[in-house]
Amino acid sequence: MIDIDKIRRSADIIGESVEIQEMIALIGQVANTDISVLITGESGSGKEVVAKAIHKNSRRKFEKMITVNCAAIPAGIIESELFGHKKGSFTGASDARAGYFEAAHKGTIFLDEIGELPLETQAKLLRVIEQGEFMKVGDTNIMKTDVRIIAATNRELAEEVKKGNFRQDLYFRLKTINIEAVPLRDHINDIHLFIERFGLLFTAKNDIPFKGFSSEALTVMKRYAWPGNVRELKNVVESLLVMNRGERITDVMVAKQLKLDTFQASPNLPVLVDADADKVERELILKQLLFLRQDVNEIKQMMMGSRGVSVNEVQPSNPALFLPPVPSTSNAPGTLAHLEDGALHAIQDDVIGEITMSELEQEMIERALEKFRGNRRKTARALDISERTLYRKINDYGIQKKIKES
Ligand SMILES: Nc1ncnc2c1ncn2[C@@H]1O[C@H](COP(=O)(O)OP(=O)(O)OP(=O)(O)O)[C@@H](O)[C@H]1O
Ligand SMILES: [Mg+2]
Repeated sequence: MIDIDKIRRSADIIGESVEIQEMIALIGQVANTDISVLITGESGSGKEVVAKAIHKNSRRKFEKMITVNCAAIPAGIIESELFGHKKGSFTGASDARAGYFEAAHKGTIFLDEIGELPLETQAKLLRVIEQGEFMKVGDTNIMKTDVRIIAATNRELAEEVKKGNFRQDLYFRLKTINIEAVPLRDHINDIHLFIERFGLLFTAKNDIPFKGFSSEALTVMKRYAWPGNVRELKNVVESLLVMNRGERITDVMVAKQLKLDTFQASPNLPVLVDADADKVERELILKQLLFLRQDVNEIKQMMMGSRGVSVNEVQPSNPALFLPPVPSTSNAPGTLAHLEDGALHAIQDDVIGEITMSELEQEMIERALEKFRGNRRKTARALDISERTLYRKINDYGIQKKIKES
């Protein structure tokens, strides 16, 4: 059994969404093996957090995890850094030096930004993964090491393979176990948990009172795309708390911080004009639908009033959200019920009872995919589900096959 909470605590992973739970479950499945893992994901999405969680839940947890940022080491010295060198093996090598693979013996090595590793070094890394062997620079003795390898990248490694920048054999070897750090926008409902944790930590450390974020502020933050993911969110939370010291954070403060230039501060239906065109269009349609519904309610009440039904009986408390029941006398074509069906229901009366939820869902997905010409990101946004969920449903319904066939 995988103990999700234990893994979450071991690496301070924030998030209770299905996406994060699935990610943690995967960490749990692979942590206790020695198999190499490739962590992919956008910048700031938590790849290093995942690597730490794997190490802390492995049998190597009491040994070291050495993190090597492959992008930060100049290509000329990376081999000597990783594998060490023999005394006198190159100018300046006045002493022998142990590399990271030697130092991490029995522990874990985390090769961050693995896409930046030079091709020759990639071949040597493959040998370590496959045989646990390497040679120091300038040495001919084979060294043995017992190291678990975790790699991470925000590059599309398959593309790098095509371009000839990354070895295909190493790529295949690494991608067998691939954990994806989920972009923040795909588990945006976790955002309040991050805000709370980052807000409390930062204010406590800097002796600032923490009065929280208003719900409107949260709404604005949920609608933002967070290209820099959790790292960006952390910076934004901290900046907001410094810029508005001791105050409760409002939507206006957030909009200013995120540089959202046009912001309509309606608490119920904020429309951010900086959002992408599809999102704005969707929100406008939603707004129009609500107005339409309001109009229909008014017409209906007028008609009911004229037929002797008390207006107070059906007066909605919030006309935009409330729909009074259809009076039983009005079911003939051309009457109020008909008007209501045509104007308010997305599904025609005659198919009720004939169509299942999953058929409906499948059709929604297929038609949305068609509308957005197969663009899954746009489709997921329009349907208001995560891309991951969309992928799963595409597979479940076999839509994938149909797309390919067409
Ligand atoms: N699920 C999470 N729970 C808690 N903190 C998180 C989570 N995801 C990301 N963070 C925090 O966000 C910041 C960025 O995370 P991390 O360094 O792991 O991202 P990354 O994917 O490695 O980014 P990069 O590609 O830029 O290296 C860190 O401060 C990290 O602690
Ligand atoms: Mg990182």
